[in-house]
Amino acid sequence: MFIVKSLVEKTIELENNILVIKVYSPEISSEIKPGQFLNIRVSETYSPLLRRPFSVCDVEGDFIFLMFNVLGEGTKILAQKRKGETIDILGPLGHGFNLDDDYQTAVIVAGGLGAAPFPYFVKKLPNDKRIISFVGGKTNNEVITYGLKNILISTDDGSLGFKGTVIDLLNENLEILNKGKIKIFSCGPNAMLKAIKEFSIKNNFECEVSIESAMACGFGICQGCPVESTSNKEKYSLVCKDGPVFNVRDIVL
Ligand SMILES: Cc1cc2nc3c(=O)[nH]c(=O)nc-3n(C[C@H](O)[C@H](O)[C@H](O)COP(=O)(O)OP(=O)(O)OC[C@H]3O[C@@H](n4cnc5c(N)ncnc54)[C@H](O)[C@@H]3O)c2cc1C
Ligand code: FES
Repeated sequence: MFIVKSLVEKTIELENNILVIKVYSPEISSEIKPGQFLNIRVSETYSPLLRRPFSVCDVEGDFIFLMFNVLGEGTKILAQKRKGETIDILGPLGHGFNLDDDYQTAVIVAGGLGAAPFPYFVKKLPNDKRIISFVGGKTNNEVITYGLKNILISTDDGSLGFKGTVIDLLNENLEILNKGKIKIFSCGPNAMLKAIKEFSIKNNFECEVSIESAMACGFGICQGCPVESTSNKEKYSLVCKDGPVFNVRDIVL
């Protein structure tokens, strides 16, 4: 785990107000695994003690990429960063996705900005595994396909792709999913993750989810990010230290 001041290289604007910031950070790029996250202090002057957690979206050589949209003050400051300015990064943090298990097809299920960790995931997936990506949003504005492969799209209002939720779309494609051994990897709004849990258990599919929580320290000290665990031993796990990626059967969503 490092604390580094890293130089912003550029900010790329995707459609729908989504930004991708490219940052020179050899320390992080050489260590980070798909699904791990960084705790970022966007400014020395604004909430100096409070960092903001972000997934690493992609890695190219010594550069890392973060994907975000402007929600509050932290992401507003991040959006205004220009080449040569710095951000203060703590990371890599947490546990990422387990890519090496016994399965033939990785089924990505992403809702809205839940697409953020998957471009790097796609890059790092072992060559012998196939990918199919299910991407959902309420409307076409929320559909993010950046860096994904073999994409099927759903929107609740039918403005793009299949009309319905991404779970409806998975159910429509059950025949494809039942061919060979699959593992689901998902990130998105909590309601979607709850539905993914039900879907995975009902169909007996392996599934890992990346979950979000309010965070402070980012590495297990403050106890500020509990998630209820289904195991009898520990009542709570910490999202920052034990996650953010969990086997969906191990947590209460
Ligand atoms: C492990 C992890 C990985 C994350 N990865 C990403 C990522 O790759 N890209 C990204 O854009 N965001 C990601 N987030 C969420 C991100 O940390 C928040 O969006 C960010 O902290 C907002 O900071 P802010 O100062 O702009 O907003 P704040 O001022 O903190 O909040 C502004 C408004 O947004 C709401 N808000 C804050 N956080 C969230 C959230 N997580 N979900 C929904 N509403 C929220 C607040 O309730 C408030 O209404 C991640 C969070 C976690 C825990
Ligand atoms: S954020 Fe401090 S313990 Fe998780």
